[in-house]
Amino acid sequence: MPSVKVRLKTCEQSYEVKVDSGLLSGLGTEVRACLGPDARRAAIISNRAVFNLYGKAATQSLESADFKVTPWLIGDGERYKTLRTLNQTLDFLTASYFERNDAVIALGGGVVGDLAGFAAATYQRGITFVQVPTTLLAQIDASVGGKTGVNTPAGKNLVGAFHQPSAVLIDTNTLATLPRRELTAGWCEAIKHGAVGSRKLFDQTCSFLRSSSKGLVMRHAQNESTKTKPYDTRLNQLIAAHCRFKASIVAHDEREDIGRNDLYSRKILNFGHTTAHALESVTQYRRFRHGEAVGYGMLVAGEMSKKLGMIANAELELLREAVRLCGPLPRANDLSIAEIMRRLTRDKKSVSGKIKWVLLERIGRARIVDDSAIEPKVLRESLRAGLRQS
Ligand SMILES: NC(=O)c1ccc[n+]([C@@H]2O[C@H](COP(=O)([O-])OP(=O)(O)OC[C@H]3O[C@@H](n4cnc5c(N)ncnc54)[C@H](O)[C@@H]3O)[C@@H](O)[C@H]2O)c1
Repeated sequence: MPSVKVRLKTCEQSYEVKVDSGLLSGLGTEVRACLGPDARRAAIISNRAVFNLYGKAATQSLESADFKVTPWLIGDGERYKTLRTLNQTLDFLTASYFERNDAVIALGGGVVGDLAGFAAATYQRGITFVQVPTTLLAQIDASVGGKTGVNTPAGKNLVGAFHQPSAVLIDTNTLATLPRRELTAGWCEAIKHGAVGSRKLFDQTCSFLRSSSKGLVMRHAQNESTKTKPYDTRLNQLIAAHCRFKASIVAHDEREDIGRNDLYSRKILNFGHTTAHALESVTQYRRFRHGEAVGYGMLVAGEMSKKLGMIANAELELLREAVRLCGPLPRANDLSIAEIMRRLTRDKKSVSGKIKWVLLERIGRARIVDDSAIEPKVLRESLRAGLRQS
């Protein structure tokens, strides 16, 4: 089974990310092995949709490893990643008498993982938690790295904590039920990893998507019977490679040091995100899944890189093809460029009033550029060109 070790300088404990098809049935054994014999109880934090699909298997497996299991279901979607839900979750843990050596199991996508992780970070000043991510985005990105938190009315992820999981267990079979748009969103984030940091990972991801573009993304959303062993093996290896990449970035910059602009800075993972946040904001978070907006954001950043003479056209073409391979994106060419430019200046990633753009020198090599180096005309034309494509 592919596995990835996450090692952190500031944290005594390192942890393992395990990737396999069908891992859910061995969840109890895995959690027992990483928590030791003293842990008695497990709170599965999930939402109804995911719990209906995978709650029974997770519960049975944990019970067979002698855990007393109590589920706690939160609402489905970003709008439930709030302080209110956190409060309710902490009340549940308190009322159920969870103790410091008990565990929280986050079963779901990034919303569940971020919220459950934050609850685990704050309950009794921090209890153990294990991530069991069930979306592609959470499997390759959100579950690794220890960022937890909630949104507030002022913005996304504004309140949170760094709290590393004790283990991340990825059952890739859970992707079989994931809606197609969620897969597209996850693949866009996967392309981002390769584009900013690893040509090899970029090629591996594109080759996987290309070879299966007539089957995989669709087939995956259909049913189990059409899956094949080689397909599973390649998918598992690919997801593990993405976790390895994320772990390497996290190991170098665990807490996203604000002063860093180098190639191992966690900031490079914001590639495509500056425009993505503006697109999500001008459409009131209704039109795009976050990863879909990142797809456009990468295209815009690619256009900017070309206009600034940083990237060759052939490399940009590879990026365009990669985004196409992820799946269709909702239309964006009807949006007001002036409005998007206004929102961009409000991006929360701006530091000291300046936006740090993550651009590309080539596929696999990012460069962080201050917005003072970018003329409004370049930005406007890049937006126009990037949002035309999909
Ligand atoms: N902590 C981090 O480092 C980090 C990184 C990236 C994103 N995030 C956060 O992740 C969140 C987005 O995560 P997401 O894209 O996973 O969205 P999500 O958690 O909202 O899940 C998307 C949808 O898929 C459903 N779902 C989940 N697994 C399923 C399955 N196997 N089958 C069928 N349906 C399933 C969910 O119920 C939900 O409706 C955002 O809040 C974002 O801020 C965190």
